[in-house]
Amino acid sequence: MVSDKSIYIKTFGCQMNVYDSDRMRAGLEKNGFRPEPDVRRADVILLNTCSIREKAEHKVLSLLGQLRTLKDRDPHKVIGVAGCVGQRMGRALLQTIPALDFVVGPDAIDRLPGILEEVYSKGSRVVDTQLDGGGRVYSQPVPSAAWARPAEFLTVMKGCDHFCSYCIVPFVRGREKSRPIAEIIADVKRLVAAGAKEITFLGQNINTYGKGTAETLSQLIDEADRVTELERIRYVTSHPRDLNEELMSQFGNTPKLCPALHLPFQAGSDRILKRMARFYTQAEYLAKVERLRHYCPDIALSTDVIVGFPGETEEDFKQTLHLLESVRFSGAFLFKYSSRPGTRASHFTDEVAEPVKEERLERAQEIAYGWIKKENEGKKGRKEKCLIESLDKKGSYYMGRSLSNKVVHVLNAGAACLGKIIEVEITDATVASLKGYYVGAPKVSRQMDPKISASVPPA
Ligand code: 5AD
Ligand code: SF4
Repeated sequence: MVSDKSIYIKTFGCQMNVYDSDRMRAGLEKNGFRPEPDVRRADVILLNTCSIREKAEHKVLSLLGQLRTLKDRDPHKVIGVAGCVGQRMGRALLQTIPALDFVVGPDAIDRLPGILEEVYSKGSRVVDTQLDGGGRVYSQPVPSAAWARPAEFLTVMKGCDHFCSYCIVPFVRGREKSRPIAEIIADVKRLVAAGAKEITFLGQNINTYGKGTAETLSQLIDEADRVTELERIRYVTSHPRDLNEELMSQFGNTPKLCPALHLPFQAGSDRILKRMARFYTQAEYLAKVERLRHYCPDIALSTDVIVGFPGETEEDFKQTLHLLESVRFSGAFLFKYSSRPGTRASHFTDEVAEPVKEERLERAQEIAYGWIKKENEGKKGRKEKCLIESLDKKGSYYMGRSLSNKVVHVLNAGAACLGKIIEVEITDATVASLKGYYVGAPKVSRQMDPKISASVPPA
């Protein structure tokens, strides 16, 4: 019987995994499991994993190594792996790690309660890596709870049909499948009723949302824009090839759509882009940036970059630097290429040496972060509208995000600001975040918290 068991879930990787973990938690709680924040006390330990780069997988495997000692001490503990590593390694993971009781992939979330029942009742070790087929997906989403975070994420589609040559995602998440707009909007309304002010729609290749149906991402955004009380809409992740004119123009005419877009370019060299199977050139990418800025001059663009892709020469790499210099991104995630088993690029034999990758990463970071810092410093003295999401990691200050998706630590905001959009005057900036003061904060809230009253600016 599982009804008295407690569960600890650790999430690795992207926002979609965070969302999936919420769904796992919700499904298991419905079936009698209790959440347990302390891994040592939990009856079931579940790792929801990421396999995008080798390093991400190593983290999972090393944690599994540590968990073995817990299981040695208490053999009744049940340990499972879910998500992309589960999908990629399947039964092999069960074979190499004797302490593991079950391995499931990202599409097995709804089957988890049954899987745990089987583990407990029969003592079986279970593998479930069945992926949904293409077409529609009608998953029962999380937001049945009465409470929502101020900024919530909502998965609107799963999978990817692109098969960029370096990427494991299409193998571990399967083909593209979209949820119907009506179902998504019902979720948005539930989340908003439970307190959410901002929704980020999630999909690995979200621009092609609705593929194979009559529905499109533009329609979804228009419908979400009409949801009263929802204040902000974002979506992630876009592929430059699929970002059409209609989607770009929405940044100029859709009031709730935040002026921020994550648009990975991956590499600046046309030759490397071709090898990556990205299906655009540097010139085409830059033309889209121009169109976006035409519709929305202040749009904050962020990007992903891979350095050291097989065969990347110094000349190719300089094109990446050129693109970083030309666009001046507001945010950038830079990665060293990591070979993923089964992908097309894993068969390329002209790998770039590790020290070269390392050096290119540093050079790319210097340029990308240099522009980000400059942009952030330019915000000093300006006022930004921030949605206050939570206390920061240290628990010192409330933090939120600006319209352009910058993290902002607010030095004089009190708990009453949580979930509100407030105006913050920026006083300090680093590459990672901004700091500032809530303009017009009621005096009483400044005095309630000693940390906060200590940091009130001179009048
Ligand atoms: N190696 C390095 N980075 C990768 N990414 C995806 N696959 C790989 C890989 N094999 C990066 C891409 C993608 C981001 C989520 O991760 O930049 O946009
Ligand atoms: Fe991977 Fe994104 Fe390319 Fe799909 S579009 S294969 S998720 S990098």
